[in-house]
Amino acid sequence: MTPFKVGYLIGSLAKASINRKLARALVNFAPDELDMTEISFGDLPLYSYDYDHDFPRAARTFKEALSAAEAFLFITPEYNRSIPGGLKNAIDWASRPYGKNSFARKPSAVIGTSPGKIGTAIAQQSLRSVLSFCNSPQMNSPEAYIQFTPGLITDEGEVSDDSTADFLRNFMTEFQAYISRVYTVLPRPAEDHRARSAMTQQEDQSIKELVS
Ligand code: FNR
Repeated sequence: MTPFKVGYLIGSLAKASINRKLARALVNFAPDELDMTEISFGDLPLYSYDYDHDFPRAARTFKEALSAAEAFLFITPEYNRSIPGGLKNAIDWASRPYGKNSFARKPSAVIGTSPGKIGTAIAQQSLRSVLSFCNSPQMNSPEAYIQFTPGLITDEGEVSDDSTADFLRNFMTEFQAYISRVYTVLPRPAEDHRARSAMTQQEDQSIKELVS
């Protein structure tokens, strides 16, 4: 089977981000059926609907990357008990213009790490609420609140603790299974596109027959 294209968004813009280290580990643990690509958003301007009729270049590039993905993985820190503003700004861009919401019907999963014991739980709840509104079917379980201790994950994504490594590997396996389940009931975007264009051709033919 063609691997699922997964776009992953890292909520932190910080160079030394611990969530970037976690992302690296998750990419390493991803099963072969997942084709992982980062979708960055740090150069997006602040969203306003004034842009809706003419998106700037950075936003077009961002929307194209989202469009190419079949599923999304959010790896986010918790800032002030919610998600960082940069990530929320990116989601607002992704959801617009009206009728062109890039998340609609595409499956997603949420994970994050912080030094504190709650491991981004409150930020993830906040993000889940946003993704629900954006009509993205979300993996409910396993939940993943990772407490980051010094040295837990290297810059290359190597995990020093075996139980954490097993947990993260299982998380990615479950995500792949979840994406597969979603696409057993929904057409994959490429198939959806083919089905729609076949339908358009049929409609064109019907119209030609009507007028001839
Ligand atoms: C934080 N931090 C934090 N941690 C947490 O568990 N709950 C919180 O609400 C917050 N709030 C918060 C706000 C702001 C503005 C900053 C900069 C930090 C600490 C945070 O978990 C820590 O800085 C992590 O290193 C952030 O993850 P990244 O950016 O390194 O991936």
